[in-house]
Amino acid sequence: MKYIVVNTYEELSNKAADLIAAQILVKPNCVLGLATGSSPVGTYQRLIADNKAGKIDFSTVTSVNLDEYVGLDGSNDQSYRYFMNDNLFDHVNIDKAKTFVPNGCAADLAAEGKAYDEMIKELGGIDLQLLGIGLDGHIGFNEPDSVFTGPTHEVKLDESTIEANARFFQSKEEVPTTAITMGMLSIMQAKKVLLIANGAKKKAIVEKAFFGPIDPQVPASILQLHPDVTVIFSEN
Ligand code: GLP
Repeated sequence: MKYIVVNTYEELSNKAADLIAAQILVKPNCVLGLATGSSPVGTYQRLIADNKAGKIDFSTVTSVNLDEYVGLDGSNDQSYRYFMNDNLFDHVNIDKAKTFVPNGCAADLAAEGKAYDEMIKELGGIDLQLLGIGLDGHIGFNEPDSVFTGPTHEVKLDESTIEANARFFQSKEEVPTTAITMGMLSIMQAKKVLLIANGAKKKAIVEKAFFGPIDPQVPASILQLHPDVTVIFSEN
């Protein structure tokens, strides 16, 4: 594992964007696993700037996102599909038809999860998976549990996650209580993993995840078993 500590969020975002840009350079038709949340916003801004400056070409890139709230469709400004369009896809030359986000409005979420994993497999797997981390150690929406869950599946969100994500909604009551998320298998099968975290309040969970025991109560700790992980942490 490469554990990189930087001083500022800007440095973190630049380093993460450099890694993603390098991935696209060495494999222009790569599959990027992308994440939502506040952590990757700066990274996406740098990628947009690089794309506008002609330094990165997204035209042959495919993306697969980690997760989506159940019941929110892409037109809802709190959905992760909306977030991705707004924070990245609408501003770069990626083919939207090649950007995938789990469908949180699917009638049969179990079938949707199965089809999503199948699709990732058919794409040849994920070349580089970008991750944030929740305060309880969740990645995607894989919440602390008694076991690590493999496939893409429906999850009930923890109270602490609902509270943490309420800042994006008008009120806590509006936060969906369930989501569909890529499971640990899809994440662990990515060829490379890049986890970014910033802020003093994330320090304890990041240290627990990467320097503590591997424990399904700290979902991100499974990444200690991944052969190619880069963690970038900034206190600010
Ligand atoms: C959400 C997302 C995660 C993300 C986490 C942390 O719950 N499902 O993918 O990593 O929030 O968000 P933030 O980066 O805003 O701290």
